[in-house]
Amino acid sequence: MSDRKILITSALPYANGPIHLGHLVEYIQTDIWSRFQKQRGNQCYYICADDAHGTPIMLKADREGINPEELIAQVSKEHLADFTDFGIEFDNYHSTHSTENQHFSSLIYQRLKEAGHITSRSITQAYDPVKEMFLPDRFIKGDCPKCDAKEQYGDNCEVCGATYAPTDLKNAVSAISGEKPIEKDSEHYFFKLADFNAMLKTWTTTEGHLQPEVSNKLAEWLESGLHEWDISRDAPYFGFEIPDAPGKYFYVWLDAPIGYMASFKNLCSKQNIDFDEYWAKESTTELYHFIGKDIIYFHALFWPAMLNGANFRTPNAIFAHGFLTVNGEKMSKSRGTFIKARTYLDHLNPEYLRYYFAAKLSAGVDDIDLNFEDFSQRVNSDLVGKVVNIASRCSGFIKKRFDGQLSNHCSELELFNEFTDNSDTIAALYESREYGKAMREIMALADKANQYIDEKKPWLIAKETGKDQELHDICSMGINLFRLLVAYLKPVLPQLATESETFLNIPAQPWPNTAKPLTNHAIKPFKALMTRVEEPKITAIIESSKANLEKIATTPAAKKFEPIANEIEFDDFAKIDLRIAKIVKAEHVTGANKLLQLTVDIGDETRNVFAGIKSAYKPEDLEGKLTVVVANLKPRKMKFGISEGMVLAAGPGGEDLWILHPDAGATAGMRVK
Ligand code: MSP
Ligand code: ZN
Repeated sequence: MSDRKILITSALPYANGPIHLGHLVEYIQTDIWSRFQKQRGNQCYYICADDAHGTPIMLKADREGINPEELIAQVSKEHLADFTDFGIEFDNYHSTHSTENQHFSSLIYQRLKEAGHITSRSITQAYDPVKEMFLPDRFIKGDCPKCDAKEQYGDNCEVCGATYAPTDLKNAVSAISGEKPIEKDSEHYFFKLADFNAMLKTWTTTEGHLQPEVSNKLAEWLESGLHEWDISRDAPYFGFEIPDAPGKYFYVWLDAPIGYMASFKNLCSKQNIDFDEYWAKESTTELYHFIGKDIIYFHALFWPAMLNGANFRTPNAIFAHGFLTVNGEKMSKSRGTFIKARTYLDHLNPEYLRYYFAAKLSAGVDDIDLNFEDFSQRVNSDLVGKVVNIASRCSGFIKKRFDGQLSNHCSELELFNEFTDNSDTIAALYESREYGKAMREIMALADKANQYIDEKKPWLIAKETGKDQELHDICSMGINLFRLLVAYLKPVLPQLATESETFLNIPAQPWPNTAKPLTNHAIKPFKALMTRVEEPKITAIIESSKANLEKIATTPAAKKFEPIANEIEFDDFAKIDLRIAKIVKAEHVTGANKLLQLTVDIGDETRNVFAGIKSAYKPEDLEGKLTVVVANLKPRKMKFGISEGMVLAAGPGGEDLWILHPDAGATAGMRVK
């Protein structure tokens, strides 16, 4: 058919959260395109990866008490399982936290630097003095400077809609530590985007690169002038350290799109593909990025500029799509419409959603709405009522009356040809991402197939004598039309297509433009290929999404306290010998600002213990009291003497420190267990 060589990508999902139905708009859209290209006989690689870097991921790992590496490994597994179960078939799924990505990020950076496109200067930013890190906007909260609404984040107020700088917030605090941020200077690296002004003006207005509405939007941005792009972040940061800039890391959005290359490189190594054929400046292969409209800026400005400046090819096109709304509104956790991929999969057939999204998708950037009533109605009437129904109506007679064998000739070649004649139209619609229109074309054919059966009334003919041949022809015709419908739907419904191929006893169907009718061919017994959407399952999805929310709501605000440490065995705990101790003497230590020296009676012996509680306790308040000490901690040599144990205390420090007291009745020497 054609020997196009195509590389396509979906945006790389962040590794700090689960895949939800909004994400799936994009992965399903891309997967349909990828499967379509492959079915047409083109070479097509569909590449993706987890976007594993950045502050939110670092902090999330922190809260969970694990390394970022552990977090991203776990999330990657979950993401891939969700995608696989939705029939999304990547040729490679990698991570931006990979050696390939580190290589290409450094390479691109170095090339940009050598060409003079990188500059550096000191900037002032909000800094959390407790957590000792710079704070991205979304980690600063305070009262809105306009309407005084409490707990507003970053740079805009969710209550009154005002936009402002995070420094304008009243009573601003770090969302991580709750501390008041201070201002601090630091050297940052910048990508001089303005160097690419002319290049980008041409690139963004060249026919085919961008959808017209996107191109127009970018023209406004380009008109208002391109700013230098801050591509560095200070430690602590989870990402790649910038070559020759210790303590400075690439901002997550610098290495994220490079992750497309890196994932492809990883595939190349596994399958012996020529990487340069796809990425060298003079490449003649096709490269397309499917993305949501929220990340156009990164893909249509920064990314082509980076590629151009680093002497790589630029994409053939960026395909942006709109956002998913559910029942007409933004996905909402409290309404139960923020639905995780997994929650959906627990209840419903993923191909319902693939079909529904296909039916709603166009080549534009309009938002698409998942309306559950419409969803059931479409799936039930189109897929179950029209497509699968043809097979079930005809296969029974073929099995019972003709031993599973199709007729030896096609009785309605004209009708069959009408179906194949539509192949170019349908292909063009898939190619231009007008899936909704493609589905309508296919359903119009399904209507024709059903009309044919309705007119011929095989269920009546079956009762008449001497009409066996006619019955055989009609039902065989029905099966042949079903087969073509399934071939057209294959990019959208790979599971239904595969099961139908088994039923039809045929090899994987290519695009059916040259298909010939199946005659004298044995088919397999028909099994229900798809059942109707059951409404209670939808209710269950929404209820269970609300339940997820309750779980989140009852988790204590993790940032108030340090995370609970990793689980231990009882034996680990048993190693710690805790004893009730009586403080027989407490005194100041000359020269020490934090320590008190305690003499404690732990039953059969007395110990000398230094405790950092001077800011919270006066010695005279302690003498005679009972407390708890770690009695088998290795003695520690300190500036003022040897400490032979540790007093247990809680609290953030300073005056806010409380030592433990046992309940009345406990006596010195008793073991705490
Ligand atoms: N990590 C970045 C992309 C880096 S690409 C080099 C990112 N990740 S994301 O997880 O937030 O989003 C991944 C993709 O899903 C984006 O293209 C985004 O637009 C899309 N969607 C996320 N929520 C969506 C909806 N509610 N509706 C439709 N698409 C949505 O952005
Ligand atoms: Zn406000």
